[in-house]
Amino acid sequence: MYARQWLLGPAPRHAIPDEGMPPGTAYHLIHDELILDGSSRFNLATFCGTWMEPEAHKLMSETFDKNMIDKDEYPQTAELEMRCVHMLAQLWNSPDPEGTLGSSTIGSSEACMLGGLALKWRWREKMRKAGKPTDRPNLIMGTNTQVCWHKFVRYWDVEERCVTLEGNGFVMDPERAAALCDENTIGVIAVMGSTYTGDYEDVEALSAALDRLQEKTGLDIPIHVDGASGGFVAPFLHPNTRWDFRLPRVKSINASGHKYGLVFPGVGWIIWREASDLHPELIFHVDYLGGTMPTLAINFSRPASQVIAQYYNLIRLGKSGYRAIHQACQNVAVHLAEQIAALGPFELVSTGRDLPVFAWKLKENQHWSLYDLADRLRDRGWQVPAYRLPANRQETVIQRVVVRNGFTCDLADMLVKDIRRHLDWFASQPGLNAKLDSGQFHH
Ligand SMILES: Cc1ncc(COP(=O)(O)O)c(C=O)c1O
Repeated sequence: MYARQWLLGPAPRHAIPDEGMPPGTAYHLIHDELILDGSSRFNLATFCGTWMEPEAHKLMSETFDKNMIDKDEYPQTAELEMRCVHMLAQLWNSPDPEGTLGSSTIGSSEACMLGGLALKWRWREKMRKAGKPTDRPNLIMGTNTQVCWHKFVRYWDVEERCVTLEGNGFVMDPERAAALCDENTIGVIAVMGSTYTGDYEDVEALSAALDRLQEKTGLDIPIHVDGASGGFVAPFLHPNTRWDFRLPRVKSINASGHKYGLVFPGVGWIIWREASDLHPELIFHVDYLGGTMPTLAINFSRPASQVIAQYYNLIRLGKSGYRAIHQACQNVAVHLAEQIAALGPFELVSTGRDLPVFAWKLKENQHWSLYDLADRLRDRGWQVPAYRLPANRQETVIQRVVVRNGFTCDLADMLVKDIRRHLDWFASQPGLNAKLDSGQFHH
């Protein structure tokens, strides 16, 4: 293999080669290059699924050729998508799980665009009916929201009103969110599972704050819950937390099937509380099997295999299976967080008790930074990102671990051992200080 002419020089980089090569050669050339990516299982930065059962692999490879949008041609695939929509609507306590509307998407970002657009359309219709201007919509969110919401406001021409992180909190304060609302507010975004720390926002308190606002001012402000991760975690691990359609003010919820929905990247979900919460102008009608199928999406073509794999997970695991998997992740997260806190230099900023995700910061300045630790952890393949908190708290650098299905207690203990080894190395390198001063380790 490795004496073949195509492997004796560099891989084609900037132009399609004039002649092809045998499939096995092309396979090895690409496969070998990708070894440099490292193992996705050691990627503690990603929220996305990195392990699925062999049966799911089989189903997915049997359906790689199907396009989700071809609902006429693949009516059973469309049927499985709708079953997932109904199951999630039921999981999130919609008053009408079988009658409400929702869709699969390519991920939470697309789902958030659709959720935000529905808020904008709903608000615009209300304003038009009242004979008021519709040119200055605004959306309320915490600075800790994921980048998709900052994209939403820019792409769809909506004013962003951000609640900054104050005091020791790492999530949006409900009272301060309500205080930013006015008659041009299309909605408030609440995040179930902050991307920064894994903490839930208090959706029930936000809903109550907006109730009080309505009593005082008459403003009726809807909530969209970004449950990218928590939408698949809270129903199983925190069933008594009221964050979903049990709160009438929550009009739509998105989640990533490819995060704690346990599917490989490429599937998200958006569900409305009731069909009437989605403006009909946003729905396109596709005929199939003699009926009419309402669809809405930004993308047109999209892989069907991820949606099929989602249905597989839902029926294969059942609620008890999801609960068991997420509980196992949470046990590892809480255990690992405690171990890391006990090492000495670190202070936890979250504990893994909401999402199985936690983060820490340095208790005091050291002659090394969390960026240095992240760099050194790569020596055995661990990918544990360090980053700054958002606006107002940017001076705080944190490091975060996302515990996912397949990250065992044993692997967690090995991570702690490696962190301890690097702490010893830092301790033996007082000269690092001088390098730091000279800016050599500037981040
Ligand atoms: C809270 C939150 N919302 C939205 C997203 C975007 O999700 P996706 O990657 O599925 O587009 C993420 C991704 O990390 C997230 O954490």
